[in-house]
Amino acid sequence: MDAPAYLDSSLTTSERVADLVSRMTLPEKVGQMMQLNAKERVTSLIEDFHVGSILHTSPEAMLEADTAVRGSRLRIPLLVGEDCIHGHSFFEGAEIYPTQLGLAATWDRDLVQRVARATAVEVSATGIHWTFSPVLCITRDLRWGRVSETFGEDPYLIGELASAMVAGYQGDGLGDATAILATAKHFAGYSETQGGRDASEADLSRRKLRSWFLPPFERVAREGCRTFMLGYQAIDGTPITVNDWLLGDVLRGEWGYTGTLITDWDNVGNLVREQRMYPDYATAAAAAVNAGNDMIMTTPAFFEGAQEAVSLGLLDEARIDEAVSRILTLKFDLGLFEDPRLPDPDRQREVIGQPAHRELGLETSRRCLVLLENDGLLPLDASGTARRIAVVGPNAHDAQTQLGDWAGSSGQADWLPAGQPRDMILTTVDGLREQVPDGWEVTYTRGADILTTGPDPEGELFPDGQPRPHVVHPAAPDADEIATAVEAARAADVVVAVLGDRIEVIGEGRSTATLELLGGQIALLDALVETGTPVILVVLASKPHVLPPAAERASAVIWAANPGMHGGQAIAELILGAIEPSGRLPISWPRHVGQQPTYYNQIDAQHGHRYADLSQEPQWVFGQGLSYTSIEYSGLRLLPPTEEDVIRAEVTLSNTGSRPALETVQVYLRDEVTSATWADRELKAHRQVSVEPGESVAVELELPVEACSIVNARGEREVEPGAFTLLVGPSSRLDDLLSVRFRIG
Ligand code: NOJ
Repeated sequence: MDAPAYLDSSLTTSERVADLVSRMTLPEKVGQMMQLNAKERVTSLIEDFHVGSILHTSPEAMLEADTAVRGSRLRIPLLVGEDCIHGHSFFEGAEIYPTQLGLAATWDRDLVQRVARATAVEVSATGIHWTFSPVLCITRDLRWGRVSETFGEDPYLIGELASAMVAGYQGDGLGDATAILATAKHFAGYSETQGGRDASEADLSRRKLRSWFLPPFERVAREGCRTFMLGYQAIDGTPITVNDWLLGDVLRGEWGYTGTLITDWDNVGNLVREQRMYPDYATAAAAAVNAGNDMIMTTPAFFEGAQEAVSLGLLDEARIDEAVSRILTLKFDLGLFEDPRLPDPDRQREVIGQPAHRELGLETSRRCLVLLENDGLLPLDASGTARRIAVVGPNAHDAQTQLGDWAGSSGQADWLPAGQPRDMILTTVDGLREQVPDGWEVTYTRGADILTTGPDPEGELFPDGQPRPHVVHPAAPDADEIATAVEAARAADVVVAVLGDRIEVIGEGRSTATLELLGGQIALLDALVETGTPVILVVLASKPHVLPPAAERASAVIWAANPGMHGGQAIAELILGAIEPSGRLPISWPRHVGQQPTYYNQIDAQHGHRYADLSQEPQWVFGQGLSYTSIEYSGLRLLPPTEEDVIRAEVTLSNTGSRPALETVQVYLRDEVTSATWADRELKAHRQVSVEPGESVAVELELPVEACSIVNARGEREVEPGAFTLLVGPSSRLDDLLSVRFRIG
């Protein structure tokens, strides 16, 4: 008998898809639309549910799944998905880079693209075809637990970096054996939480979505990101899962998106359970499929529900065929029917954690560090007299904590209980011990604990089956530990205090009510500054934290985010002046939790910018970050246009200090008069420029006229003719920006 047409690789993808769909039974089609958790019963997922995809698959389960697929009727290869979001998160020995927020602090599109490419090279050798990355959510409330998964608060920067990441993952196209599917998530508005609480109803108008939340998604949709993942939340009463306007009119309609839509974890169950929109799984499944979802993540009841919906006439089988066709298109385009891209041990040995990726990891760790304050103590003079450095703090020597969420032992995968290999990770203590010149001394005392945890009284699991995180209890300051740290500080010339957060207060379902340094950390810092020994405060934390008054007495403050495996080396190099600080905040840094939100591009209020009891100014603003030199901006002027619809300008940077700098030139735009209220200024472009000591560099800046748009009261994006101001400088703070006016139209 002839082989079926869908196995003939000389046919087009659409011919093969049509042939295969015509051979599938309804249960096989419904199963093809399902992605289930491979933590257990992998064979049964394939035999009993005919699943099209699995996630959270250990290396062992991967092989079991393959055997089951080969024994199935149509032998449709699986799509294997995983959250490989800052490196190959849960593969032993993979390079783990800074978190997405840490990557955002580099403001470097090319670097982020290289990280995604290197990640794809590692991931594709391990049987995984699909990463659930990047996150395009806008962070506006820092209490949210998932801030470190985002690129921060600015739509332009998010769009730039997300576009780079998608390009890196998908490489030269899905036919390339090192390409993996990228996922733009969580579509859309998930981060607009109430009180920072995870997955709460989002208070968003369509206009607000179009103004700030949708543009990064539109960009990657148009650039060919092959999959989109929905958020959990509802907007104005409509869960995203059944939001016809967003999924149908906007994404598929206006943007012409032809990729595949996947729900988030048990969104269909959520429709029945928490959102209580549908009485049963048949009606919920019908609604989700009719709204345009193609793949349903981790809702086992979808299997019966969707079939019942068809038999009851609630769901047309043709709609199921469309969804299945989109999923199969991915599989044919990836070439999985010819080569299912199973784990390849030889390639793994070659590429996982290969030297070039280790180098890239080090480069990103260096670039993500943001120097926020420096009274001149930094850099320490490595050629000067020998110094004694007292390293103190719970995050100074905690390798797995340094990696942050979605890595090794962060909890989502159970096959790496001890985390990523300790010998691949350099903590601050490791880094300083390795980097200090001969004769210098480095001591380490922990000084404080951050927290303890206990079971959630409400039970072990959420109703959607995901584990309920343990409840956090801040640790009490320990007088003995503090006394030991103080003794070390007194005996030293410099203190490096590495404080921050840990995985128990980071991530999904782990939003925090406060933003303070938890546990014994504040008491520790108080005691350290009292010693009179200069303190370098390194905030190794997933997100900005409100710092205590003692931080103002520190000689220097560095934010390290979760800086990846080489973070400790990079921190040591920065302190010792072996590298230049170049990171810039991708997010505003508050003074008080009650200031939330602090994002810079807010709409002006009639009654000013302060509370009765506190300024509304953040501690450090979006875009801020110091170098070890000073860069002066001058001579901002418009240049004659060379192309239609592009505004050109030039600014001169002069390095007036004695060290080189990698300067991030930020270009903001103000529309002087708008037909609807709008942000005072928005970032529209940026350039990174190296400036040597004593050098002056003229930097050319370009801005497409279409970037000068607002969303009018009717919800349409348009450029309104009139006066504009271009603002150029080293941060979003008005005082830092030079300005020049121009007109359009
Ligand atoms: C739920 C998270 O919200 C999403 O970001 C992630 O990709 C999936 N779980 C799969 O792990």
